Amino acid sequence: MLASGLILGIETSCDETAAAVVERGERTISSVVASQIATHVRYGGVVPELASREHLRAIVPVVRAALAEASLTLADLDAIAVTSGPGLAGALLVGITYAKALGFANQLPLIAVNHLEGHIHAVLLNERGTTNESGAPDPASGTWESENRDDDPALALVVSGGHTHLYLARLANGSWSYKLIGRTVDDAAGEAFDKVAKLLGLGYPGGPWIDALARFGNPNAVPFSFAQIKAKAHLGGKPARTKAAKTAPIAPLDPHFLFSFSGIKTAALRHVELHGLRAEARERVSRVLENFHPPQTREEALALCPQATLDLIASFQHAVVGDLMKKTFAAAESLGAGRVLVTGGVAANRELRERFTAEAARRGLHIAFPTLALSTDNAAMIAAAAWPRLLAHDFAPTGLSADPSLTLA
Ligand code: KG4
Ligand code: ZN
Repeated sequence: MLASGLILGIETSCDETAAAVVERGERTISSVVASQIATHVRYGGVVPELASREHLRAIVPVVRAALAEASLTLADLDAIAVTSGPGLAGALLVGITYAKALGFANQLPLIAVNHLEGHIHAVLLNERGTTNESGAPDPASGTWESENRDDDPALALVVSGGHTHLYLARLANGSWSYKLIGRTVDDAAGEAFDKVAKLLGLGYPGGPWIDALARFGNPNAVPFSFAQIKAKAHLGGKPARTKAAKTAPIAPLDPHFLFSFSGIKTAALRHVELHGLRAEARERVSRVLENFHPPQTREEALALCPQATLDLIASFQHAVVGDLMKKTFAAAESLGAGRVLVTGGVAANRELRERFTAEAARRGLHIAFPTLALSTDNAAMIAAAAWPRLLAHDFAPTGLSADPSLTLA
């Protein structure tokens, strides 16, 4: 018998220590995220050992803050949900160990959540109608999980710093199931944003910098292109080349729904070298502020980068968003999905939201994103994804451990 429907979510899979309390998978009571950006910024990326250490420092105060913000105690909860993978092993272990101890001491069941399913539930949480950006009721409420939706699958693009995956998501008898449709064969899209930003001397993470600067450049200045991926080229027992590529087999997937972002990163590097943008970029590294202040005017943007760099940034973003769009909508069409959801850190991108929304409208499809705050890693999405599991009494075994390459579907 559920007393309250309150779940405490804990997320430590990468570089955010997060805790949140969500009621019945639909109402965010509190959500606290402690970012480690200041720790990793000088390395231009996440350093796994430092991430674990920072999680150890932050986990207790972050969980306490989430309960305090919700004006609740552990005794008010029905369960604790924790991310069990995929992610960094040491980072995941901090959250799992703490969640286990907390659950054991307070006789609360533990629910293991796949981080990728969490990202999908960030959209569903929003769509359930109680947590939109302004706090107002969401008119789209109920369109994703109402009774008659069981036979209408949704196409989900999870696009972040560690993942670029397409899933067909189905709701049946109150619980969601997922089928992997496509994914990246090398870098994740967010990784490409981060690497291109780094080579231009911009801050980490790079996505928000590129997003803010792109609108001052010409998106057609540099002709980036994506070649059709041949499935066979990535088979033959060859080891996966990046961490993103390790998480699921490629062989059964339609090559039309495979992504590759390592080529565009190299093309951007070549463009930077050919046009002498690098020396000027190196100089800028020393000037980059750790606090992110997006430029509001062309003059402010030009103070950070010359027009040639702004054009490169705009062209890069335009090409990546175009490729994500092309494959996502082709998959939706081919699989008969009437609804598309886009989630993960890159889903915060302004151009991505605008172009996906316009294309969905053109095709008569329903489209949904998480709020901006829930696009990047957070624990509200973990608590929301745990709700159907709690109803089904689907609890984690006492021996739960981290699974860095956990797959969904
Ligand atoms: O979902 P997330 O917080 O962590 C992972 O699960 O990976 O995503 C972080 C990624 C980073 O690569 C970051 O550069 C990217 O999301 N990102 C963006 C934007 N905001 C964050 N990429 C493009 N445009 C943005 N506005
Ligand atoms: Zn994530």
